[in-house]
Amino acid sequence: MEDVLIKGGRIVTAVDDYVADVLIKNGQIEAIARHIPAESAIVHNAAGLLIIPGGVDVHTHMEFPLGDAVTCDTFETGTRSAAFGGTTTIIDFALQQRGESPKQALDRRMAVAEPKACVDYSFHIILTDITPDALAELPDLIDRDGISSFKMFMAYPGVLMVDDAGIFKAMRKVGTQGGMINIHAENGSVIQVLIEEALAQGNTSPKFHALTRPRIMEAEASHRAIRLAELAEVPVYLVHLSAKEALEEVVEARDRGISAFAETCPHYLFLGIEEYDRPDFEPAKFVMTPPLRDHDCQEALWRGLKFDDLQIVSTDHCPFCFNENPYGIYQSKQLGHDNFERIPNGAPGVEFRLPLMFDGGVGMGRISLNRFVQLTATAPAKMFGLFPRKGTIAVGSDADLVLFDPLKVHTLSASTHHSNADYTLYEGRKVTGKVEKVFLRGNLVVDGDTWLGHPGNGAFQKRSASGRV
Ligand code: URP
Ligand code: ZN
Ligand code: ZN
Repeated sequence: MEDVLIKGGRIVTAVDDYVADVLIKNGQIEAIARHIPAESAIVHNAAGLLIIPGGVDVHTHMEFPLGDAVTCDTFETGTRSAAFGGTTTIIDFALQQRGESPKQALDRRMAVAEPKACVDYSFHIILTDITPDALAELPDLIDRDGISSFKMFMAYPGVLMVDDAGIFKAMRKVGTQGGMINIHAENGSVIQVLIEEALAQGNTSPKFHALTRPRIMEAEASHRAIRLAELAEVPVYLVHLSAKEALEEVVEARDRGISAFAETCPHYLFLGIEEYDRPDFEPAKFVMTPPLRDHDCQEALWRGLKFDDLQIVSTDHCPFCFNENPYGIYQSKQLGHDNFERIPNGAPGVEFRLPLMFDGGVGMGRISLNRFVQLTATAPAKMFGLFPRKGTIAVGSDADLVLFDPLKVHTLSASTHHSNADYTLYEGRKVTGKVEKVFLRGNLVVDGDTWLGHPGNGAFQKRSASGRV
């Protein structure tokens, strides 16, 4: 592999901000200095551009089965879309089916991802069947296989939901090994009552997805998850936190010194409940779980990001097409045309996390440039055992680098994104700040609009058990 030299860019990490050259050798950062001679290296001029660490998105669902449907991005299309958005590592999910062991779930998922992934990847294992045998496998998964985080659902009864006893048992086991527990925190049983009541009254439209998932049921489950984790002595990470009241639970716990962490997602920061008032079936595009919230939640989330009550912005990229079959896909949002409960939950987003957070976060003065990097790369890498290989720009780190033009204005659109999804939540939104070049372990994979990556070039990343942050 030839050496690569990136010249004269503004290097921005979670803590640094300076202009220098970066030399890449064998996929890693070899040197950073004010002036490095080109010698035989391939040179990229980065004058006027930011050099930021490749994004780390710890919440994606590529070709993922959810209820009656499978998400519409394969590992190939979804990771290509991630790369165009400046994300060079994803942590996706391996779903333990009932009767299956967690290790079998991991092996199955690895076999799907390995030939297709275009960026580096790992998995959280979703535990659904907490048997003694499953619990007994967890230490090896953490220590031998490099899977240091496990997710459980307090929602989706009968499908993914685990009861409190199961959650507690898994938490205690993972805690003894220094792993991390991820929780989808919503009170699924109560929400199910509300769903059934709504449907019985003939309220079948997408808006009722939001109306049957109240904020305080997210807060209640968040509180319960944190208290269970406190007893089990394990760090807990609440995924896709959306409600102000849930954030208050995290803040309260952190103030008591509990290892409670949380992510939010761009859609909760930039979009609100009014999207469900769009005409016809359009609101189905915004059916994700938890649903979009009121604007007071948005303000609280931005404040949480600023003051580190929230540590990470991930996408929960969980794409379903709006219409049937543009790519041979028969599992679109239309499945729920007559019943909101059958609308596949989730939305695309992996490609737009960096531009949105730069434009709406840094550009609007809500977060600093360093904090932008911390939220999208450094903190996810640290919290999930990938740092310092990933998430920063330092000698010896993988050369996962994004050359980012902070001044370029562009328009987000499904007509130009690289996901298989036939829509985006942000259609027509103008943003300032664009990914120009992306390097994955020193290989140029994105050059403007040109794709230079290859399926199978993404590498599985073993993660250390750095759950105790
Ligand atoms: O709507 C969502 N978020 N779908 C993905 C599954 C989940 O709950 O993360
Ligand atoms: Zn979830
Ligand atoms: Zn998700």
